[in-house]
Amino acid sequence: ATSDAFDFILFGGSGDLAMRKLLPALYYRHRDTADTAGWRVIGIGRHALSREEYVALALDGCRQHVTPRDFSDAAWSAFAECLDYVQLDAGQVAHYAALGTKLKDCETRIRVFYLATAPSLFTAICENLGTAGLVTANSRVVLEKPLGRDQRSAREINDNVGRIFEERQIFRIDHYLGKEAVQNLMALRFGNVLFEPLWNRNWVRDVQITIAETVGVESRGDFYDSIGALRDMVQNHLLQLLCIVAMEPPASIDADMVRNEKLKVLHSLRPFSADDVANRTVRGQYRSGAIRKQPVPGYLEEEGIASGSRTETFVAIKAELDNWRWAGVPFYLRTGKRMQERLAEIVINFRGVPHPILQATSGEPVNRLVISLQPDEGLRLDMMAKVAGQSMDIQPIFLDVALSETYRARQWDAYERLIIDVIEGKLTLFMRRDEQDAAWQWVEPIMQAWERSAQPPKSYPAGTWGPTAASALIARDGHAWHEES
Ligand code: BG6
Repeated sequence: ATSDAFDFILFGGSGDLAMRKLLPALYYRHRDTADTAGWRVIGIGRHALSREEYVALALDGCRQHVTPRDFSDAAWSAFAECLDYVQLDAGQVAHYAALGTKLKDCETRIRVFYLATAPSLFTAICENLGTAGLVTANSRVVLEKPLGRDQRSAREINDNVGRIFEERQIFRIDHYLGKEAVQNLMALRFGNVLFEPLWNRNWVRDVQITIAETVGVESRGDFYDSIGALRDMVQNHLLQLLCIVAMEPPASIDADMVRNEKLKVLHSLRPFSADDVANRTVRGQYRSGAIRKQPVPGYLEEEGIASGSRTETFVAIKAELDNWRWAGVPFYLRTGKRMQERLAEIVINFRGVPHPILQATSGEPVNRLVISLQPDEGLRLDMMAKVAGQSMDIQPIFLDVALSETYRARQWDAYERLIIDVIEGKLTLFMRRDEQDAAWQWVEPIMQAWERSAQPPKSYPAGTWGPTAASALIARDGHAWHEES
C-alpha cells in the first residue's frame, strides 16, 4: 500500500459514485495503511457546502457502503481528517482559483484529478485545470466511463484531454479490471503451464462471458435511457474481459506490453455487417416480472425513462476473433439488468475427447473451466470421472475453489486497487486511448444498425435470463448458455 503524499481531487465529490464506491474505497485504504500523514481528499461540487457538511455527507455514504464490521468511529475520524471540500462550477474557470489556493505549495506532491462527472464536463474541467495552472508534472487525471457515446465523441474528448495531460497521465478506468477474479485470470493463464497449451482453437469449443445483474436502472433512469447496455457494459467491461481471456501472453506485466496484447485482440474482432447485427446480436428490454418472488416494474415504467423508449437493457452477441489462436471459436457475450441472478462469469468450454470409448451417464461429457467474478470469486473445473462401482461409465465431477476461503482476508474492492494504482502511477489496469478507440469502432456498427432498425428490442420478463432469442442465438451453433446446460 502507498505511503506517498497525495492530493486526491474528486470532481463529482457528492455524487453517486463518490458516495457508493470512491469514498468507501479511500476509507478502507486509509484504515489499512500505516502511514497516511500526507493524504488529502478534496471533494469538488457545485453545492455550497462547508467542510463539515461535506464530511457529514461522506460519513453517510461510508456508513451505507462500508461493511458494518469494518466501520469504526476511530477509523472514520482519522479518515475524516483528510477530507476537504471546494465549491466550484466546473465550467467556470474563475472558480478554479479557490482550488488553486488549497493546492498552493503542494506542487511536488502527487495530484490526482478524479473526474466522476458526466463526460460532457471532461473537456471543460481539463481545460480549466490547465488554464488555472493546476496541472503539474506529478498530476494524473482519471476518466470515468462512459467516455463519450460513440467513436467520434470519444475521440474528441481524448483530443481535448490530451492537450492538457500526456497519455502517461491519463487513467481511463474500467472497474472490472480491478476485480480480483479478473487479475486472477491473468495469474491462471500466465502463472501456470496447465491451461495455456489448451487455450486455443484446437481445444476450446466456445467461450461465454456473462455479466447479469438483478438490479434495474435504480435512480439513474434518464441517464441510462440515453446510454443502454451496449455502451454501459459491452463497449467496456465485456470487451475488457474478452481481451484478458483471448490475449497472447505479454512479454512482461508492464503496462504497455499488456495493453499492446489487448489491442491486438480488439483489432482481431470480426467487424459486424448489417446482416451480422441481425443474425449475431440480440437486444432486449425487460418488462415487469419478479426477482426472487418480489414483483418489479418493467423498464418503461421506471422513473426517467422516455415513453416508448427503445433503449436496450440486455445484449447478447456472438463475437468472433479473426486470428490464428481463435479462428472459428465463438465468444458469446451477454449482459442484462433485471436478470434472474446476479452473476458474472467467464466460461471456457473445451472440446470433447477425440475418440470417446467411455459412456457418460447423461448428456455430453463436459470439460469446462468457470471463472466466477460475482457474486463470489472462484474457480471451478468441471471434468469427467468414473462412477463408483463396477461400471466404467463416466459422470461430471468438479474441482471448486472459493477465493474468499483461500485468502481469508477481506478482499479489496476493485476501486481500492485502482485508486492505489493511480496514485502509484501504474497504468496496466487502465485503458490506453487506442484500445478504447478500437472498442468503440467494433460496437459502432451494432449501435447504428439498432438505431436504424424498425424492430424494437425484444421484451423479456424481469427475473429471467433474457429474451428467448438469446438462447436461440447460441442453440443455432449446437451450444447452450452455461446455466441452461
Ligand atoms: C457500471 C455500470 O459500469 O457497472 C452499471 O454503469 C452497472 O450499470 C455496474 O450496474 C456493474 O458493476 P458491478 O461491479 O456491480 O458488477
